[in-house]
Amino acid sequence: MGAVSTMRAEKTETGDDVLVRVEGLRKWFPILGGVFQRTVGYIYAVEDATFNIKNAETLALVGESGSGKTTVGLMLAKLEHPTAGKIFYRNRDVGKLSSSETRWYRKRVQMVFQDPYASLNPRMLIKDTIIEVMKVHRVGGPNYYDRAVELMTRVGLSEEHLYRYPHELSGGQRQRAVLARALCVNPEFIILDEPTASLDVSVQAQVLDLLKSLQDEFRYTYLLITHNLAVVRYISDRTVVMYRGIWVESSPTRELFGRAEHPYTQALLSSVPIPEPRSNVEKQLLKGEPPNPTERVKACPFADRCPYVMPVCNEKTPPVTQINDSHQVRCWLTVKK
Ligand SMILES: Nc1ncnc2c1ncn2[C@@H]1O[C@H](COP(=O)(O)OP(=O)(O)OP(=O)(O)O)[C@@H](O)[C@H]1O
Ligand code: SF4
Ligand SMILES: [Mg+2]
Repeated sequence: MGAVSTMRAEKTETGDDVLVRVEGLRKWFPILGGVFQRTVGYIYAVEDATFNIKNAETLALVGESGSGKTTVGLMLAKLEHPTAGKIFYRNRDVGKLSSSETRWYRKRVQMVFQDPYASLNPRMLIKDTIIEVMKVHRVGGPNYYDRAVELMTRVGLSEEHLYRYPHELSGGQRQRAVLARALCVNPEFIILDEPTASLDVSVQAQVLDLLKSLQDEFRYTYLLITHNLAVVRYISDRTVVMYRGIWVESSPTRELFGRAEHPYTQALLSSVPIPEPRSNVEKQLLKGEPPNPTERVKACPFADRCPYVMPVCNEKTPPVTQINDSHQVRCWLTVKK
């Protein structure tokens, strides 16, 4: 595979297997008001995102609309600045990278968005889009064109597609072109924000299979942000569930589908028809109003809608309960078990 095969990620320098570590990440967006446009409140988009992602694994980040998933992805891609908390990449504090280290980070970490049309320049041929990115990041030269052809082939397109404008491609082909653009800089870590949501079901499966085969070949690490629990189950190794910008459960994906502990996770899983014979999850739809992002969470974020709410749930933040080595949950029910 020539140049493309150099994409393989090495082990982290420290020898451990964690590539990304996120600790207490928070993002508040100010609400400006009045004549002087002063801060009159905040949108509490992310309150506490905490998780690790191991080399070459796929971590899914799930939660209902507005739970802060994309904002977490944007902070990881350094497209939004955290209000608090830390991101470590290969044990380096991402908030303290020098400008040359930031350039290195921006190559290593790529983000792919839901709408491939919006993320490609409509006036540029795919060829020019890809070659421009390689030139900006100084990779792939001097044989930029050959590398672009190689990447197109690897994502299931051909040289001929380099000479198309985005509107001349189908949705699935556009998302493949976006992937080729992300891969052209030799990334290690790819943030996939609803990567198949805009595609037809049959095309979704093809793009997911492509993502899997690329990961098998090049050991990419993925953060998969999605609403689609079937996609989560198909492609992810571990899952973190967010509610109102707070992580509430973290588990290997297989275990989560069979033994969700948090009432929100249970409601989320039971609200979609995924056949799972061993599942102990009973049908329980989410009741109550969706949360208001301008109100700060005081205790349990799910207390307003939880069928099992107890007085303590409105008074104190539930602590983390370790179900086993790889499964954690934040709920007073598991504390009392
Ligand atoms: N730039 C911004 N300025 C102000 N508020 C924002 C901004 N970006 C996101 N928000 C708000 O932050 C909250 C979290 O948004 P985010 O896009 O991260 O959610 P999400 O989980 O990705 O939702 P969805 O599943 O709908 O994509 C929402 O209330 C959203 O309106
Ligand atoms: S802490 Fe209480 S309100 Fe929150 S999810 Fe658990 S039982 Fe429900
Ligand atoms: Mg989103």
